[in-house]
Amino acid sequence: MASASIRRVGVLTGGGDCPGLNAVIRAVVKTGIYQYGLEMVGIEDGYLGLIQNRMHLMTPEEVSNILTVGGTVLGACNKANPASFATWEDGKWVKRDVTDEVIDHCRQWQLDALVIIGGDGTMAGAAGLIERGMKIVGVPKTIDNDLPETDMTFGHDTAVATATDALDKIHTTASSHHRVMAMEIMGRYAGWLALRAGVASGADVILIPEIPFDMDVVAGKCLQRSKRGKRFTIIAVGEGAHPAGGEMIVDRVDESSPDPIRLGGVARYVADEVEKRTRLESRYIVLGHVQRGGTPTAFDRVLATMLAYNAVELLMAGRFGELSVLKDGKVDSVPIEAIAGKIKTVPLDPPLVRAAKAVGTCFGDGDDGT
Ligand code: F6P
Repeated sequence: MASASIRRVGVLTGGGDCPGLNAVIRAVVKTGIYQYGLEMVGIEDGYLGLIQNRMHLMTPEEVSNILTVGGTVLGACNKANPASFATWEDGKWVKRDVTDEVIDHCRQWQLDALVIIGGDGTMAGAAGLIERGMKIVGVPKTIDNDLPETDMTFGHDTAVATATDALDKIHTTASSHHRVMAMEIMGRYAGWLALRAGVASGADVILIPEIPFDMDVVAGKCLQRSKRGKRFTIIAVGEGAHPAGGEMIVDRVDESSPDPIRLGGVARYVADEVEKRTRLESRYIVLGHVQRGGTPTAFDRVLATMLAYNAVELLMAGRFGELSVLKDGKVDSVPIEAIAGKIKTVPLDPPLVRAAKAVGTCFGDGDDGT
């Protein structure tokens, strides 16, 4: 049964952008307007738009022809969280709770509910607003696929395809030059992206945060391949991968962000160490934000559309505080608190790691099945 109390709905895309966000915006806005006669309000630049009172009424025309376009027409921001919003004051970042202002802006715009599209940090922000009585449903997104309670997040499949394509491409240059090539792949503290892209492209070594590596094992694998007459070694490195007993390598600390750590540098470390230990010429590549862009795959467009439709249905059924998810292959929902601020890492000894080890892939743990 449709909820009579919902007439005007705000939509926001929080956190880092990812392919498929526009597919969600399109489906949420069109379903809201066509199926329920709702007024849809686009909130600009994630929580920043709520904090700074920047929003606009949306029309079906605004979301026409965006299904296949990467990024988000609403804009995104991975620094703003109403409970801890940073402003630059007297030469330093000062964090304040601006939830009252946000609630006031929602009142001014007569928003009865919000559809919040985002990852763990964005959902933690949503949980704070729900506690203050706001009616919210969520749609999980991230290229990292690191959210619990959902089989897969949209954006991940596209990012895997992008990283796979890049790994495929470096095979030829690595082979031409007899080089070891280490490619750094995003994913923060979870190795899903590096693992899947590495397996898809047949990387010889895959390093992920969940399996700490031994540099001697990695170097040994490169040397062994070279001695066998292999002209190259491809290493897929998740940005959170780290040596056993060592720390993840931090590229920068962004004090203005609620989640200030930005990882980076491990591919360079791995390539340098391999060259030092083996004298095999080595190079590193940091794939970076290219993984967040581009046209979403058909899988991501379908997933995004299904989850978005389900989110509007949840809203109109009065099931506030729920997150629209894919569970055991079916569209479902879980409480937003179930994922707020939590992450899903690659489990120890998953079938995909076992399968990769069986074909000789090295994970740097000395157990590569060959
Ligand atoms: O969470 C998505 C992600 O792309 C991570 O894989 C990466 O570590 C991080 O965001 C990069 O953040 P930023 O866009 O702030 O550099």
